[in-house]
Amino acid sequence: MKKISIGIIGGGLMGREMASAFARWCALADVTVHPILSAVADLNPTTLSWFDAIPSCTQKTTDYRDLLANPDLDVIYVALPHHLHEAVYLEVLEAGKDLFAEKPFGIDLAAARRIMEAVDKSGRFVRCSSEMPFFPGAQRVIDQVVHQPIGRILEVVSGFHHSSDLDPTKPANWKRQSPTCGEGGVLNDLGMHACHLPLRLGWKPKRLFAQLQKGVSQRPDGKGGVATCDTWDNALLHTWVQVGEQEVPLRLEMKRLSPGSTNTWFIEILGTEGGVRFSTAEPKTLWVFERGKEQWWKKTELGFSTQFKTVTGGIFEPGFPDVIQQMWAAYLMERENMLGERFGCATPAEAVATHEIFSAALESQRSGSVITL
Ligand SMILES: NC(=O)c1ccc[n+]([C@@H]2O[C@H](COP(=O)([O-])OP(=O)(O)OC[C@H]3O[C@@H](n4cnc5c(N)ncnc54)[C@H](O)[C@@H]3O)[C@@H](O)[C@H]2O)c1
Repeated sequence: MKKISIGIIGGGLMGREMASAFARWCALADVTVHPILSAVADLNPTTLSWFDAIPSCTQKTTDYRDLLANPDLDVIYVALPHHLHEAVYLEVLEAGKDLFAEKPFGIDLAAARRIMEAVDKSGRFVRCSSEMPFFPGAQRVIDQVVHQPIGRILEVVSGFHHSSDLDPTKPANWKRQSPTCGEGGVLNDLGMHACHLPLRLGWKPKRLFAQLQKGVSQRPDGKGGVATCDTWDNALLHTWVQVGEQEVPLRLEMKRLSPGSTNTWFIEILGTEGGVRFSTAEPKTLWVFERGKEQWWKKTELGFSTQFKTVTGGIFEPGFPDVIQQMWAAYLMERENMLGERFGCATPAEAVATHEIFSAALESQRSGSVITL
């Protein structure tokens, strides 16, 4: 396998998730690339010490510019609060490194567009993190829509729900405050997950009406005081997309206040002849609708049918760490021009398109009107 040397900037929740995906790379059976985690940068020395468990990770620094100066690193993955995306992504590109960028790819639309411009100028290989479409069930949804007859599409719902903000005693963090998360709040946080598959299927909203909600306005700051939380927590975007000759309603749902949900990503596409539904709440289950003399919702247990084969037995159920690893396999194989027909990671253009949707949603909320994109 070709070894690819990786550096991580931001070793928090996602930095460590990615590091663990590299650490169990031996699970993958049909890739020709092998990521080696060589370096990590984080402001917090305690966070850095977690990486002591990874022998290949020999460069640990509180200054991310040390990574950019390291000539041995091929790819930099950046998982930082949103207000830092633009500056750091641009510096990674200027350093001549390929970039795997966390969503939302800049704090707002203007930042995303500037990043995209820098990507185009740099010629570097850049993709944006969005792992949920790598669930086998999500891939089967695409297959069903592209290759199976479902008739005229009637409606599409795509969303991401969790309930992390329901507990008012949970301390505030950067994701609950506009200067660090962005005015979009939950749009920036969960929007890429809801938009990625519809965009990949060519369904970009033409118009939208948004209903945005805020949750708890003050939370403990974790230091004995109180912090103001001003970001949007829930977003319902009622949009219209063009599918063939028809205008079709697409509802995008992003919620941090969804009672009972824990990181549930879902998509449902209904047509006149058939339909398909997948939710990570049932990670190996695909629901397919068929209409005949009677009507059926057929339930299929898909098992571990990931697009890159692994040592895991086909009867088992996939989970979040598995799709993170599949996403990295797609990034690294595409970087080598070896992705073939397989599903690739979100592109910079798709990331900018999500921000166009978020920006229109904020405008719709402000004006109480339908916005044309
Ligand atoms: N793809 C997904 O499913 C998913 C899930 C969660 C978060 N994210 C995204 O990942 C990114 C990071 O989110 P997170 O949940 O890992 O956040 P986090 O707060 O857990 O981690 C961020 C880390 O960045 C470090 N940091 C802050 N400023 C720094 C600097 N100047 N230099 C070096 N390190 C610095 C912090 O110390 C922290 O460890 C965000 O863009 C977020 O939207 C993606």
